[in-house]
Amino acid sequence: MRKSRKNIGIIGLGFYVPKKVLTNKDLEGMVDTSDEWITTRTGIKERRIAGPTESTSTLAFNAAKDALKDAKLAPEDLDLIIVATITPDMAFPATACFLQEMLGAKNAACFDMSAACAGFIYGLVTAQKFLQSGTYKNALVIGAEKLSSVTDWQDRNTCVLFGDGAGAAVLAPVENGGILASYLGCDGSMTELLMQPAGGSRMPASRQTVDDRMHFIKMRGNEVFKLAIKIMSDAACRALKACKLGVEDIDCFIPHQANMRILDAVARKMKLPLEKIYFNVAKYGNMSSAATAVALCEAYKCGRIRGGDIVVLDAFGAGLVWGAAVIQWQK
Ligand code: COA
Repeated sequence: MRKSRKNIGIIGLGFYVPKKVLTNKDLEGMVDTSDEWITTRTGIKERRIAGPTESTSTLAFNAAKDALKDAKLAPEDLDLIIVATITPDMAFPATACFLQEMLGAKNAACFDMSAACAGFIYGLVTAQKFLQSGTYKNALVIGAEKLSSVTDWQDRNTCVLFGDGAGAAVLAPVENGGILASYLGCDGSMTELLMQPAGGSRMPASRQTVDDRMHFIKMRGNEVFKLAIKIMSDAACRALKACKLGVEDIDCFIPHQANMRILDAVARKMKLPLEKIYFNVAKYGNMSSAATAVALCEAYKCGRIRGGDIVVLDAFGAGLVWGAAVIQWQK
């Protein structure tokens, strides 16, 4: 937990979601579920699914172009690209390297960040430190996921929850405001609650891992649900405290969009009015690292965020990891 020294802010935002919409009704024909169950248990109505020629880097590319345009920067102006993702194009090279080539951002150092649903906030805070130190001037941070590629379409416990998309932010030094404070955390004792077991060095791909469906997301949803409420409200309050602000100072709260019931409970726990929260979980489901990024961009584009506003980003995911950031909007 640390208060910022030099002011670093978001000077451009962009997002992209694939064209294909998968509704709850569509899922009724795929697994034993119902629109009524999904809506009441999660708040999700539909999600976007990437096409066969789309990958995480192409989703990221579309979001990045939008963000660079908003920031009025050229790709060559970027010194750093961080792609937060748990569904990289490949184990290596980093998806950020593919993206650099697509953008023509030849002056940028590039790496991926694996912090699941908190990845975009981990990325923002990492970029902020590079910019504060003066190492770099302009950074691009993207949360991008093709979760449909690791979703088990035979498992009703998980397949109704996830979707694909990408959100991008350009960061640079600003006169006033910007990222005021942040709080990042992890509890590695709970890795088994949410994971993609196979495909890494611990369980390399084999005929057996494919037969056992071990390359898909495995989740103990109910346990994750309870922890999410406790940890997200705690993370947001800690980040606010670090810059001497309180819940009453929040103008727009942008949480990770996993489940409407989690967000309702977080709001109650924090005593935060629902009108202060930006929701889009109904349209996109849980897009992991892309969820917070897309929600921030949508909130900004539809005028929910204005200059001077206190915006709080808050996310939680596999690891378990979590992060919150308090931003005073300067645009
Ligand atoms: N359709 C119909 N029934 C379903 C279903 C579906 N898609 N998925 C699960 N069920 C059933 C279960 O089999 C269970 O049936 P049973 O009681 O006969 O065993 C029942 O619904 C209740 O399951 P439970 O897991 O207790 O439900 P829940 O209230 O916890 O809701 C989640 C399930 C997954 C929606 C919820 O736990 C959740 O959102 N968890 C967090 C997910 C998340 O955010 N993950 C990412 C973290 S970033």
